Amino acid sequence: MIIGSTKEDLSIEKRVALTPDSAKNIINLGLKICIEKNYADHIGIRDEEFKKIGVDIKKSSNEVLSSSNLLIKVNCPSDQEINYIKEKTIIIGMFNPSKNKKKISEILKKNINIFSLELLPRITRAQSMDVLSSQSNLAGYRAVIDSIFEFEKAIPMMMTAAGTVPAAKVLVIGAGVAGLQAIATAKRLGAIVSATDVRSASKEQVESLGGKFLSVDQTENMETSGGYAKEASDEYKKKQAAMMQEALKKNDIVICTALIPGKPAPRILTESLVKLMKPGSIVYDLASEQGGNSAFSEPGKINLIEGIKIIGVKSLMNRLPLTASSLYSKNLFSFIRNLYSKEKKDFNINLEDEIISKTFLKDI
Ligand code: NAI
Repeated sequence: MIIGSTKEDLSIEKRVALTPDSAKNIINLGLKICIEKNYADHIGIRDEEFKKIGVDIKKSSNEVLSSSNLLIKVNCPSDQEINYIKEKTIIIGMFNPSKNKKKISEILKKNINIFSLELLPRITRAQSMDVLSSQSNLAGYRAVIDSIFEFEKAIPMMMTAAGTVPAAKVLVIGAGVAGLQAIATAKRLGAIVSATDVRSASKEQVESLGGKFLSVDQTENMETSGGYAKEASDEYKKKQAAMMQEALKKNDIVICTALIPGKPAPRILTESLVKLMKPGSIVYDLASEQGGNSAFSEPGKINLIEGIKIIGVKSLMNRLPLTASSLYSKNLFSFIRNLYSKEKKDFNINLEDEIISKTFLKDI
């Protein structure tokens, strides 16, 4: 069985699906690998590193596609690639099925098996494959680093002979995977950190990282059985806005990470709330590409409103593609290990396994 991987469209994606570490693990399962030449040159991984491990380097993407039984990608294959993928090939990646319906139905028509890893159940057995967690964790870290880069003051408290510099205050909205890493990173850098989330279960996690939890009085249960957030009621939104009014006046940097699966991002910071912040403050909106948690947020832009910088995120993983690729590739390896039967020496699409059935794209 041969696993192949081709280059991504470098104008939008710098991550790669295969790194040498994961290639080694895949080969140790008894599988063969081929990649296109200069596969990961752009992030400093030379073909020689793959060759040393036993990876076959092909001259073109077409050669990879026509010889692979299983193809690993970051994003959807291009239209040109789809023409060369053989029937019954398995493709694994992060294909964003709700956005790419047309392309996915074309692939399905060719009798190709597709798995999209954003659909993995958040169960313990799937943790090592959880691409949403591995990438969100990095996003939370990078959000703090980028915000601090744009913030024109120091972060930690400094007591110097010339006087004392107060610590910066960071507020994190949404304490899921990205939010918790943002809290941990901001704390490590010396900020005073607070956070809020609709899920009351997150209070303990925020506090365990040294953050202060800002609660909104509520009676309704805001958590679904899958552990995700529900859309907040109008009453909740009013109470949250009142809490935000006070918090925003005090904080220097606000990191927005709130999402609701399958829905546009909740709009938490209205124009008037943003304008309560001090000039020089930062709003960093990780939810920008999903519609934004904050007013004035646009993907890939920094908007300056009354001295407040509102930073809208776009393709954040392209800012740390090596680490993002390394974790993503490890997630893929874990998924492949679960899919491969060493006894049968073949991939086993066992739809009784919820990891397989939930990520397997059928009719779309
Ligand atoms: P997410 O990316 O869907 O959302 C980010 C955060 O925003 C969530 O914590 C959510 O509650 C919060 N949020 C949504 N609307 C909000 C609002 N109006 N105001 C404030 N906060 C709001 O979430 P993520 O990071 O994917 O995590 C979702 C859940 O899955 C969490 O409970 C997490 O602990 C759990 N999880 C479980 C894993 C496992 O293997 N068991 C792995 C990863 C996450």
